[in-house]
Amino acid sequence: MVFTLRWGFISTGGIVERMIKDLLLPPSDRDVSDVQHQIVAVASRSKEKAVKFVEAHLPKRMETQAFGSYEELYSCPEVNVVYVGTPHPQHYQNVKDALLHSKNVLCEKPFVLTSAQSDELFALAEKNGCFLMEAVWTRYQPVVAAAQRVVFGGALGAIKRVDSRFDKDFGDLDHAHRMLNPTLAGGAFYDLGPYALLWSTLFLYQHPENEQEFPTEIKATMRIDKRTGVDAAMTWVMLYENMGATASCSVALDTPTPDSCIVVTGTLGTLTLHGASPYPSSFTVHLFAKPQSTTSSLAEASSTTSSYPIKSGRGMHWQGDAVARAIRDGKLEEEKCNWKDTKLAQMVFDEVRKRSGLDAIYKGKVEGI
Ligand SMILES: NC(=O)c1ccc[n+]([C@@H]2O[C@H](COP(=O)([O-])OP(=O)(O)OC[C@H]3O[C@@H](n4cnc5c(N)ncnc54)[C@H](OP(=O)(O)O)[C@@H]3O)[C@@H](O)[C@H]2O)c1
Repeated sequence: MVFTLRWGFISTGGIVERMIKDLLLPPSDRDVSDVQHQIVAVASRSKEKAVKFVEAHLPKRMETQAFGSYEELYSCPEVNVVYVGTPHPQHYQNVKDALLHSKNVLCEKPFVLTSAQSDELFALAEKNGCFLMEAVWTRYQPVVAAAQRVVFGGALGAIKRVDSRFDKDFGDLDHAHRMLNPTLAGGAFYDLGPYALLWSTLFLYQHPENEQEFPTEIKATMRIDKRTGVDAAMTWVMLYENMGATASCSVALDTPTPDSCIVVTGTLGTLTLHGASPYPSSFTVHLFAKPQSTTSSLAEASSTTSSYPIKSGRGMHWQGDAVARAIRDGKLEEEKCNWKDTKLAQMVFDEVRKRSGLDAIYKGKVEGI
């Protein structure tokens, strides 16, 4: 029997629009037949906005309800999972409110702002028997599993480093925009950082030889955006002691990204992902001519490119399907984006904030910091 997951969306922002678009695509387009999605409600702080959003983005046959407050959606009995798509500082309270109404929750990245907040929410989810997950949709793209198979299978030899960069030039933004606004935890780090961090998590933290050890050393530095004083760029490095490997992560909000900005380097070769950091579409495995080769012998090396194009939509639907299966099966967490993975991200974010000086910028402006 096909399981239908009934979604309720909190906010009418950009990411909610994109996620809904992908959930509305026929599951058969991606060879899925066991789960499907229904958008039963959308809530905004303004009833007018909610109504307009539903009219513009949802088919009439779906009979999606439009609520003028988030509270009404938490209380709606038809909603099986709440999708939180508000700015990051709002996530903690929104997730907490939904869990207090015994709703399952999928919350946009970055999950919340501190480890203390995430620990409290995971404990509440456990107590109330609710599913809870940070929405890191990249983890569900087929390219990720394929690249992990290469890295974990040993083709690159012993992994020594992962370099990952996610820059985006947002151009001239209104100073009140959430990317620049310090009271909305603006800046490159919180918005783009989850993706730069993700690739080191996928290839180093999740490597079977790492045995789920968190990084033991973290160092960070940032460049300030002169417009509002938030971080325009953040770079941090981490040591994975069990792996004998380092990770270098970097983000910026005023810089274009090159095509290939995620590279895994081992003693026998490299794996380079191509495309934007949240949704790369292919990777190239480049094997050195001989182990521990010098730069000059790279020219003699072999290389193979494997492609995983996203056939329909942006590719956010795979995450939706995984959430549907987990909730159908009565699980509280989803294996590919589990609570420990999010705890790791929160720990790294806490450290980078403290070590770079971002803490001091947010203090007194952002609740919880
Ligand atoms: N996964 C991804 O690829 C991805 C991409 C972009 C963003 N995100 C994440 O998704 C979240 C939302 O980003 P977005 O780009 O969708 O933002 P956005 O377009 O600015 O929308 C945010 C929405 O949140 C609601 N909101 C509630 N409290 C608010 C407040 N105090 N100030 C402003 N808006 C408030 C508003 O909806 P109502 O007025 O209708 O209540 C607003 O439309 C962020 O945490 C971001 O990091 C993820």
